Amino acid sequence: MSDDSKTNQQWGGRFSEPTDAFVARFTASVNFDQRLYEQDIRGSIAHATMLAQVGVLTDEEKDQIIQGLNEVREEIERGEFEWSEALEDVHMNIEARLTQKIGITGKKLHTGRSRNDQVATDIRLYLRDEIDAISTELTRLRTGLLDLAEREASTIMPGFTHLQTAQPVTFGHHMLAWQEMISRDHDRLLDCRKRVNLSPLGSAALAGTTYPIDRECTAELLGFSAPTRNSLDSVSDRDFAIEFCAFASLLLTHLSRASEELILWTSAQFNFIDLPDRFCTGSSIMPQKKNPDVPELVRGKTGRINGHLIALLTLMKSQPLAYNKDNQEDKEPLFDAVDTVKDCLRAFADMIPALETNKTAMYEAAKRGFSTATDLADYLVRKGVAFRDAHEIVGKSVAFGLEQQRDLSEMTLEELQQFSTVIESDVFDVLTLEGSVAARSHIGGTAPEQVKIAVATARQTLNP
Ligand code: ARG
Repeated sequence: MSDDSKTNQQWGGRFSEPTDAFVARFTASVNFDQRLYEQDIRGSIAHATMLAQVGVLTDEEKDQIIQGLNEVREEIERGEFEWSEALEDVHMNIEARLTQKIGITGKKLHTGRSRNDQVATDIRLYLRDEIDAISTELTRLRTGLLDLAEREASTIMPGFTHLQTAQPVTFGHHMLAWQEMISRDHDRLLDCRKRVNLSPLGSAALAGTTYPIDRECTAELLGFSAPTRNSLDSVSDRDFAIEFCAFASLLLTHLSRASEELILWTSAQFNFIDLPDRFCTGSSIMPQKKNPDVPELVRGKTGRINGHLIALLTLMKSQPLAYNKDNQEDKEPLFDAVDTVKDCLRAFADMIPALETNKTAMYEAAKRGFSTATDLADYLVRKGVAFRDAHEIVGKSVAFGLEQQRDLSEMTLEELQQFSTVIESDVFDVLTLEGSVAARSHIGGTAPEQVKIAVATARQTLNP
C-alpha cells in the first residue's frame, strides 16, 4: 500500500495541510472495502453509459472510461493494483487509477454522483449477488433435508419435550421440522432481496443532482428493479443490510438448534446418528474421541452473527439524515455475516446427505421412555373412559412398568387389565411404536405416510 500523497488528490482542494497520518489510517476503509471493486466498476460503467446517453459525456469519453475501468478491473484481478490508504476507499482508489490511465476524462466520471450514492449502490449490488448465492445454498440444504426425510420416513425415534421422551415420532418428520424452519428463513431472504434490489444511484450526495440524469436507465443497466424514491433516504439508510443480518440471525438460530441435536445424537449416550469422519475431528489426548466440531462451530457462529445484527442496528440508531461517516462501519459486519452464513450453509448442506441413522438405537430409546402412554390413554377414551380417568389409569400402568422395568407393550393383557377392565387384546395395536406413529396421520402429523406426502409438497415449493 503506497502512502505518498500530501493532501488528498480527490478532495484536497480546500485543505492547507495534509491529513494527519493517524487520521488517514483511522478514516480509511480501503483495507476492507476493496472487496467491492467489481461492483464499484460495474456501477461506474452504468453511470458513464447513462451520462453519455443524456449528453453529459461524449461517446468517445464514455468509451475511454469504460475501457479504462475494464483495465483497472483486470489489474485488480491479476493482483497488480496498488491500493493506497491515502486514497481512503475503494471508490477513490479506482477513480485515481482510471485518471492516471486515461487522463482528464477520468475526472469526468464523477459528474452527477457522489461517493454517497456510489457506496450505497455498491453494497446493494454486492448483497444482491450474495443473496443469490445464499439462496442456492439454502435450496441445496433443503433438498438434502427432504431427501433424508423421505429416506427415513418410517424410521422411529423418540420425540421429546423438555428433552424427556414424550411420544414416538419418525426421523423423517424431525427432518421436515428443520426443513420448515429453513424454508421460512429462505422466504425472509427472498423478501429482503426485493428491498435490496433498488437503485440509489443518482441520489448523489444527498439532494440529487443538477445534471439531466436518467435514473431509470442506470437502474436497468445494473439489473435493479427500480430507482429508490428519495435521495436523502437512499444515501443514508442501511436497513436492507440490517434486514439481511436479521435473516442471518434467525437462520443461525435454527442451524444452532439443529447443531445441538446433531451433537447430542452423535454422543455415546444417544448414539442415534453417525457423522462421517470427514466432518469430525479427533482429540490430541483422548484417542477414542471423535468430536462433532462442524455442528459445534455452527452453533458457536450464531454468537457472531447476532453480534453483527446488534452492531448494525446500533450503528443506524439516531443517525440524522442524510449520509454520515458512521455508515462506513456497515461493511465489516455485513461482509462477515455473509461469509459466515455461506460457510455454515455449506457445512450443513454437505453434512446432511452424509448423515447415517442408527435405527436400532433410536427404536430402543423410543421404547424405553413409555412413549406410547398417550396412545394408551387415547385408547381408553375411545372405549368410553373419561380422559382424566384414563390419565390416572395410564399413570398407574407406567408406575408398574417402571417397577418391572418393562415397556407398556411388553406387558401381558392380564397385567394391563389390572388397571382397567375395558382393555382388550386390540390394545397392542396402539402400544407398539409403529402403531403409535401410524395413528397420527393428518396434515403435519408424524405418520410415515404423511411424511412422504409432506416431502412431495415441500419439493414443489423448493424454487420459489
Ligand atoms: N468509504 C465511504 C463509506 O464506506 C464512502 C462514502 C464516503 N462519503 C463521504 N462523504 N465521505 O461510507
